[in-house]
Amino acid sequence: MNSQEFYIPLNLPDISKDVPATLVDALNENLKKFNLGRWVDFSDSPIPEAYSNFFYTLGLTPSNRKTELFMQSGLEKHPIHLDGDPSNPEKFRPCAINFPWGGKTIMEWYHYKNSTVKFEDFNGHLYTQVDERDCELLHRAVLTGANLVNISKYHTVFNASVDRRYCLSVCCEENISYQELANLCHKYGYVRQQ
Ligand SMILES: [Fe+2]
Repeated sequence: MNSQEFYIPLNLPDISKDVPATLVDALNENLKKFNLGRWVDFSDSPIPEAYSNFFYTLGLTPSNRKTELFMQSGLEKHPIHLDGDPSNPEKFRPCAINFPWGGKTIMEWYHYKNSTVKFEDFNGHLYTQVDERDCELLHRAVLTGANLVNISKYHTVFNASVDRRYCLSVCCEENISYQELANLCHKYGYVRQQ
């Protein structure tokens, strides 16, 4: 299957040092207290400039409320999920620019064969989770650097490392599809050749 249906490497810089330390600290504190709660949004924090400018260049608006910083412990795998409820497009994240650091990022995309889904509410952000036993693997990839990722398909990330993993995931306000954003990345010369 064509990997470009799932992700596209982009020429965008390492912003791991530009993520506000307060956000990383908040996630590390959560981990100590609850042993979970591994993400925080950017509602009160600035998105690293290189990534907000990327969206402005494409004629789009970077979204603080849809931009998230994730953290994963070593060898942790997220449940298979969608980022939001697809029937609520205003809050749904169909695509994002992800930049991971620390750990090793293995992203997987799935076809969900059933119709019942479970909604998990994390601090007002809804996630659509499904049982792995009802899923069929479509694609698996090791991701490094910045990538446009298709998260309109069910997906998960496995941190194949004992180190803690972080991932900045930047989204725009516009209700744009993965394919539309992919076309813009090609048009404006952001696609990284591998
Ligand atoms: Fe996700």
